[in-house]
Amino acid sequence: MTKTIYVKTTGSCNLNCQHCFTGGRNGDRTQFDPQQYGDWIEDYMSKHPRGTQYHLEFHGGEPFLVPLAKLTELADRFFEREGVSMCANSNLTFKITDEILAFIQKYFYGHIGTSWDHWIRWSNQKQFDLWRSNLSMLREHGVCIYLKVSVSRELLNMTADWFIDQIESFGVSEVSLERLTCDGNAKENMDIFPDNEAQDNWYLELYKRYKQRKPNVKIRTLDILEEKLKYNVVAVDTNCRNCEQNLVTMNSNGTLGGCPNVASARKHSRLEEGAAAFLSSEDRVSEIAKELTWGDGCLNCDVFDLCGGDCHRLPWQNGRCGGLKNTLRYLSGRSTQSNLIIKV
Ligand SMILES: C[S@@+](CC[C@H](N)C(=O)[O-])C[C@H]1O[C@@H](n2cnc3c(N)ncnc32)[C@H](O)[C@@H]1O
Ligand code: SF4
Ligand code: SF4
Repeated sequence: MTKTIYVKTTGSCNLNCQHCFTGGRNGDRTQFDPQQYGDWIEDYMSKHPRGTQYHLEFHGGEPFLVPLAKLTELADRFFEREGVSMCANSNLTFKITDEILAFIQKYFYGHIGTSWDHWIRWSNQKQFDLWRSNLSMLREHGVCIYLKVSVSRELLNMTADWFIDQIESFGVSEVSLERLTCDGNAKENMDIFPDNEAQDNWYLELYKRYKQRKPNVKIRTLDILEEKLKYNVVAVDTNCRNCEQNLVTMNSNGTLGGCPNVASARKHSRLEEGAAAFLSSEDRVSEIAKELTWGDGCLNCDVFDLCGGDCHRLPWQNGRCGGLKNTLRYLSGRSTQSNLIIKV
């Protein structure tokens, strides 16, 4: 059992992505208090059985906007503690100092996450070039880069081959695809949302080309989907149906939430109330209940057993879910067009 703790060092950012659920540069500018965060995390850990694993993900806003000494103070407290891992997701669109590089090397064992959301992230070529040169610099220093890609309407206009060429050219180790939720800046930019049916079909096309081309970069989202179908555990621990049970998002203003996409707007409790108040908060329990119940659209769906209902925050469009219905039909061999790649 792994509990992920999103350690938001601040809610604000140097960028202003169109989809940003924390509100980009207008996000909360408070900086986190490492002592208070550390105390709360210890308390939270004390409420879980021995053997529980914890992952601390430095997050934001932009996590590295805050003085590195603060990140180091918290990281030092949990570094090399049994069952605890740490990493960060950063926009990497700023000058990466030797100190930041050394921090990544030491505390994250040379791993870092970043995002490439081509049309909805950077506002000019200079920012994009800075990101790319940082990627090259980090790779030269042996840093392993995990890439997240938000699936926007613009992206769906691009072919699967174009997409694979791009991610290969970045020299990253792994890629995850992220579907957009309607939070923060995204609410003001509804035109970035893809059509759900088209999104599903794009995933399917990408899957097919991925299997044919076998690129040097892993598309983790597709690998996981395939693995789960192979072992018939798709509805287990998947599609954000147990996020609220396993996630904590710590906001720098002292509030605590679950799913990071809504945590800046919706709090379960506050740091000073302690971990017990968070775990039993009414708001948290009501969110967990939403993850454990489904509407008729899902209950009558032919791939419900494979999908599990998907993330309930993904917007439905005219009765069409944001899930991967066609992709699952194909992969499971339920569609006549399937080549039964996965069927065992
Ligand atoms: C909020 S950012 C914080 C870390 C860092 N600033 C970055 O962008 O990588 C964390 C991740 O959330 C993604 N994200 C932001 N808004 C989103 C939304 N509305 N739906 C889905 N993912 C979103 C970003 O693309 C990024 O991968
Ligand atoms: S998604 Fe990340 S980089 Fe973009 S504005 Fe939000 S916090 Fe900043
Ligand atoms: S594919 Fe869509 S309708 Fe079917 S179970 Fe998943 S989310 Fe629900």
